[in-house]
Amino acid sequence: MVRVGCLGGGQLGRMLALAGAPLGLSFTFLEPQANSSAGQVGTQLLGAYDDPRRLRELAEGSDLITFEFESVPERAAEELARRCPVFPPPKALAVAQDRLREKEIFARLGIPSAPYHPVAATSDLLPALEVVPPPARLKTRTLGYDGHGQVRVEGLESLRRALEAVGGVPSILEREQHFSRELSVLGVRSSTGELAFYPLTENHHEGSVLRLSIAPAPRVDAALQRRAEEICAAVMEELEYVGVIAVELFELEGELVANEVAPRVHNSGHWTIEGAVTSQFENHLRAGLGWPLGETSARGRSVMLNILGELPPHPSVLEVPGSHLHLYGKEPRAGRKLGHVTLSPAPDWSGVLALGRLPGILLPSAANAG
Ligand SMILES: Nc1ncnc2c1ncn2[C@@H]1O[C@H](COP(=O)(O)OP(=O)(O)OP(=O)(O)O)[C@@H](O)[C@H]1O
Ligand SMILES: [Mg+2]
Repeated sequence: MVRVGCLGGGQLGRMLALAGAPLGLSFTFLEPQANSSAGQVGTQLLGAYDDPRRLRELAEGSDLITFEFESVPERAAEELARRCPVFPPPKALAVAQDRLREKEIFARLGIPSAPYHPVAATSDLLPALEVVPPPARLKTRTLGYDGHGQVRVEGLESLRRALEAVGGVPSILEREQHFSRELSVLGVRSSTGELAFYPLTENHHEGSVLRLSIAPAPRVDAALQRRAEEICAAVMEELEYVGVIAVELFELEGELVANEVAPRVHNSGHWTIEGAVTSQFENHLRAGLGWPLGETSARGRSVMLNILGELPPHPSVLEVPGSHLHLYGKEPRAGRKLGHVTLSPAPDWSGVLALGRLPGILLPSAANAG
């Protein structure tokens, strides 16, 4: 039995453990919240991510270690790496945690991304507005997720207020992009160097929170898929990456503009559990273990819907043909990601519309229209 340790005990860890069980893998999660989503399907070490005793315990009880939460301190990952193999490399964590370093990497690799300027003090406001004329977004360099740490900016006064609103922490001002849609590319690189990519996924957010993904994304030609894979491959190579990585993209007039990188399995890849030959979770583990990667092609089209804030009744979900319900074992709370439903295969929109009438499942306005 191979023992996998994991920093973070949320739903991503839970789904890693569920994917790893058939392969004979066992899981231990270091997580500060009791009765965590992942702890319910593995062993939980209750403690802070940087608690030295807990880190030692995790390293001693694991054959290899990964993480499922990208805001774990890089130092914790490095500390673990001294005792036990860790994947993805802690360096990837450091880059993805900091929007400025992420931007610098995109620039170095020639990957288009929205124009930006660092903002750390009031003396940066005018220079930033010169480089990044509004409408723009002030984004904190670290600890942003689901739109937290992000404020829309319309001019000097609103930028000043935005910097106050984020507590004056180091940030970047980023030009708002008028994209036609959001896509993500998921890649996986094994410790043997083997590479694979999933078909592009189309993502619909509402208030910066993912609501719905369609995969494979419609209206993707071979050139667009290839371009996305090139971007993802360049980032993986730069970071000497091992595991699954997601690159969030904006599509603007057929061009891809990179938004951000997630050095882990990703919400926009949940459809792969039923909708791809091998799920992102299984491939992440195979990659870390140096085992052959699984086929990444899609079995027809899937639609994934997030369950947010409240739970729909089981029967109402399960009666929709092709629906697969995934609950994360979390207590309902406004806005909280409690689970997801994947329709796979999703031959038309009737199932999506039926699910969209249930509590906890809200369709984005674009999908309502379509
Ligand atoms: N420059 C931009 N122009 C237009 N929309 C944007 C821009 N940046 C972000 N958004 C919108 O806000 C969403 C969330 O932004 P982003 O992914 O940068 O932040 P996050 O809070 O870290 O999100 P995540 O939950 O993915 O980590 C994006 O998916 C997109 O819909
Ligand atoms: Mg994002």
